[in-house]
Amino acid sequence: MSEIDPQTLGEWLKWATRKLRAKQVESPDLSANLILSEVTDFTRSKLIGFAEEPLSADHQDRAYCLLQRRLRHEPMAYILGRKDFRNLTLKVSPAVLIPRPETEELIDLAREIQPRASHIIDVGTGSGCIPLSLAEVFPESHLFGVDFSIEALHVALSNDPASRVNWIRADWLEAFASGSFDLAVSNPPYLTEQEMETLEPQVRDYEPVSALDGGVDGCDQYRRLIPQIARCLRPGGHTVLEIGPSVAHKVAGLLNESGFRQISIHKDLAGRDRFASGVV
Ligand SMILES: C[S@@+](CC[C@H](N)C(=O)[O-])C[C@H]1O[C@@H](n2cnc3c(N)ncnc32)[C@H](O)[C@@H]1O
Repeated sequence: MSEIDPQTLGEWLKWATRKLRAKQVESPDLSANLILSEVTDFTRSKLIGFAEEPLSADHQDRAYCLLQRRLRHEPMAYILGRKDFRNLTLKVSPAVLIPRPETEELIDLAREIQPRASHIIDVGTGSGCIPLSLAEVFPESHLFGVDFSIEALHVALSNDPASRVNWIRADWLEAFASGSFDLAVSNPPYLTEQEMETLEPQVRDYEPVSALDGGVDGCDQYRRLIPQIARCLRPGGHTVLEIGPSVAHKVAGLLNESGFRQISIHKDLAGRDRFASGVV
């Protein structure tokens, strides 16, 4: 298996953490814990309590395989095939962006802004994290999730055993009739060309470019999407868009050009500009 064979759970954790750290993998000790927890079915706290427990040959082989992937900077969510998002544990694959913690805040903001929305659409849905969370907050509403990636829609569908969301393959909102929704949300690709060039390897080498790349100034997709949202909202309908801090000013301008009123920029819990909202 390797130059030394750690014999116990505790020894394996120390050994794997050292290797991950040497390769500058993010969160080396957490990654080692998650891998060993995955193969042994022990919780992370149980791993600490059972540090002297011997590691079986089967567990050692499986942990070694997962560790090799992490040593190549593959994100833990893809290695495990799942990611927690609010109350949900969602399946993820390299076809979808790994849901980010800041996106969780979009759900509460949408509820605050439009608490009685009946027809809600999430555009660029990826794993389906947004409409599936909105389904918990808006139990009576009709929900739609759109993506142009069929692979992403397969993942979203697999995360929706109760069939709460209508999943649709489309190029943004081009195929939708005017005035269909009273709430439209989206977390479109918004990284600038410069931000794309400085991405961490675990994002750059594994997550889909089509979920990240917003063009030179990060606004290519907002330029297409915002006028379409304006058209598809009913009078008085709201939009809530996730944004990168570097595009906040431009997105506010695009909302204004498309006739949105009451335009606001909202900060995330880290104090960074993260969402733009408006009403038609
Ligand atoms: C930043 S990801 C967001 C995924 C998910 N909503 C989330 O917050 O984790 C953007 C998503 O938009 C989708 N997308 C990109 N261009 C699109 C287009 N023209 N029409 C529909 N979806 C698109 C990508 O496939 C990707 O799933």
